[in-house]
Amino acid sequence: MKEELVIFDTTLRDGEQSPGASMTKEEKIRIAKQLEKLRVNVIEAGFPAASQGDFESVQAVASAIKDSTVCGLARAVENDIVRAGEAIKPANSGRIHTFIATSPIHMEKKLKMSPDEVVERAVWAVKRARDFTDNVEFSPEDAGRSDLDFLCRVIEAAIDAGATTINIPDTVGYNVPEQFGELFHQLLNRIPNADKAIFSAHCHNDLGLAVANSLAAVKSGARQVECTINGLGERAGNTALEEVVMAVRTRQDWFDVDTRIHTPEILAASRLVAGITGFAVQPNKAIVGTNAFSHESGIHQDGVLKHRETYEIMRAEDVGWSTNKMVLGKHSGRSAFRSRLKELGIEFETEQELSDAFIGFKELADRKHEIYDEDIQALVTDNNTRRV
Ligand code: KIV
Ligand code: ZN
Repeated sequence: MKEELVIFDTTLRDGEQSPGASMTKEEKIRIAKQLEKLRVNVIEAGFPAASQGDFESVQAVASAIKDSTVCGLARAVENDIVRAGEAIKPANSGRIHTFIATSPIHMEKKLKMSPDEVVERAVWAVKRARDFTDNVEFSPEDAGRSDLDFLCRVIEAAIDAGATTINIPDTVGYNVPEQFGELFHQLLNRIPNADKAIFSAHCHNDLGLAVANSLAAVKSGARQVECTINGLGERAGNTALEEVVMAVRTRQDWFDVDTRIHTPEILAASRLVAGITGFAVQPNKAIVGTNAFSHESGIHQDGVLKHRETYEIMRAEDVGWSTNKMVLGKHSGRSAFRSRLKELGIEFETEQELSDAFIGFKELADRKHEIYDEDIQALVTDNNTRRV
């Protein structure tokens, strides 16, 4: 039996921090309900102290959701923690996520606090959050650029103060996979009370490494990943939920964990988030892009028609697509052409007629990017075809 990898979805909080992606309360509730269907463990619904609207959204999500924990974000300050505590009150299961920066540049230039003051404030914030819930997550912001000894010190103190999840953010997407994996290895081995908390990875995608860094952390012992649908998030985005979940599910030979995610709901979640935010999904996006399960090259189409696992490592149906797709274009071969004719109920009397039609198809494909069923039907009307 594999250990569970907790999926913490922050589409409604970090995802919403993408410029232009803000959501109304009603939209957040619709997305939260889809996340619940997906069976995410934790939904970070917003930052209640940020605005009255965000407070009400977190409260509404906390009331509407039954099967996922609902979380509110709070800086390590009194008002934020109280607002988060009030907002999650209606939840069946609620969490407060409090954070303070620990990197030298953030402490010196942004917080203007000494390392000792940061540790003291982190301890205070965790204890204050525990007045509202016993499910408290602590993040040393910009952990990816923090000093390792200092990180160990602040995390040990946060766990002693009552934090049950320790989240390690690579806030500016600066780390590379080996380094981020090694960071988890060091933290889990050096912090004496590390076994009292779940360690979590929170990665940003500035170098396109968010998913790779998250998976490296999992390999080194992280048991929660923070992610968003479609990788939505500030700047270049966050770790994409669908990619982490399917990487772990597809590579059960490599990972010691699995998630409880109901993967056939992934595509619906992707479409809902894209529709509400207006952030379209690129066609070649893994798992949820329109081309993710499409084959155009003749060699691949022929292979897939013979046995789908020749060129497919996942089943399209397992993430919500109705099926994989053979796109007919100039790279397609006879085998895919013949298969599409069969689907369209078109049969030739002789192999020569099929060859003639295939030549016509290739000529057309040189002029058009994609060949639709109507094009094939038009193409074969001049040939001696017989509909079956
Ligand atoms: O990226 C980050 O550091 C964050 C924290 C608030 C966890 O989003
Ligand atoms: Zn973040």
